[in-house]
Amino acid sequence: MNPQPRPVFKNPRAQYEFRGRPCSVVAVGSYTPARVLTNTDLEKMVQTSDEWITTRTGIKERRIAASDEATSDLATKAAQRALANAGLQAEQIDLIIVATVTPDMLFPSTACLVQEKLGARRAAAFDIEAACSGFIYALEIGQQFIMSRTYDTVLVIGAEKLSSIVDWQDRNTCVLFGDGAGAAVLQNRPGSHGLLTVLMGADGSKGSVLCVPAGGSRNPASPATLAQRLHYLRMDGRETFKYAVSAMYNAAREVLRRCELSIDQIACIIPHQANRRIIDAVAERLNARPGQLFVNLEKYGNTSAASVAIALDEAVASGRIKRGDLVLLVAFGGGFTWGAAVIEW
Ligand code: UT7
Repeated sequence: MNPQPRPVFKNPRAQYEFRGRPCSVVAVGSYTPARVLTNTDLEKMVQTSDEWITTRTGIKERRIAASDEATSDLATKAAQRALANAGLQAEQIDLIIVATVTPDMLFPSTACLVQEKLGARRAAAFDIEAACSGFIYALEIGQQFIMSRTYDTVLVIGAEKLSSIVDWQDRNTCVLFGDGAGAAVLQNRPGSHGLLTVLMGADGSKGSVLCVPAGGSRNPASPATLAQRLHYLRMDGRETFKYAVSAMYNAAREVLRRCELSIDQIACIIPHQANRRIIDAVAERLNARPGQLFVNLEKYGNTSAASVAIALDEAVASGRIKRGDLVLLVAFGGGFTWGAAVIEW
């Protein structure tokens, strides 16, 4: 057997994990729609208050896509920004993976629609669905194609138009979510931003805690499902909250263990932006300092599969993440699913 080539990462501790050709997150990009929906706007729609939303979640406003703007449109704009930042053309992409729970339609996949909009004629394309953990799942899937040398350039996108599945009469959920997209370009590019490890997890026994009950093959859309509002997102918030804190903590701890890193060595933690109280509880259990966290949920709310990708792009663009920094991503979502990753930026 031929010896494996050595990894390019500067951090020698990460090399033990090496199983194939190293994968870099070459560049990221994001897009959020222009329309802002504030907590004050929501006060006019359901019985809620800016005070309740702010203290229970940390969210102040969220972005809402235009009626003629679908998930593939948001995804395409984020992808174009990531490609520009990577210095690549659409024709160079081998594979497009879109993580979403709000596809433009049941099929074809949103990834195929993005392929057409980008003009990425050479690319294979498919969607994955892991709810709010979707971007981290997609990073792991994309990384596997780079490591195995199947593809050289993979475009990974987390994109959501959650406003299309939110029940705008349900104050328990409608205040939480927003629309947006984030994208990353993966390649083997020595000297770029090394993806050191990615972890994925799931617990399908909790599927009904956070779901859209109708519109699929179990309960196809019908006048009855519409009347019962079953085609909207449903969530048991308390149950989700409790599970999220321990799953995100465990996932973060495990990826740190794999890379033989302590939390002090992480320059920036990018958690899924669902609730400020969840983020703070995870950070406290990890013994992280508040200054290590990157939080932007006050501007966007929970954008599910897009959340970590948008936050990563903003952290890089604002200079919060610098060359050589170790970055920890961690997410949790419906399924239940969870994921974590470490990147040497
Ligand atoms: O993206 C991944 C998955 N999602 C999450 O991670 C979200 C997880 N869960 C949460 O973030 C929190 O559970 C929520 C923000 C959804 C809710 O916060 P909570 O502290 O768990 O509140 P609660 O569900 O225990 O509700 C407390 C009270 C209830 O009233 P009663 O029954 O005590 O009289 C609710 O009816 O707050 C009421 N309430 C509201 N009041 C004003 C619920 N939503 C609202 C609202 N405005 N929008």
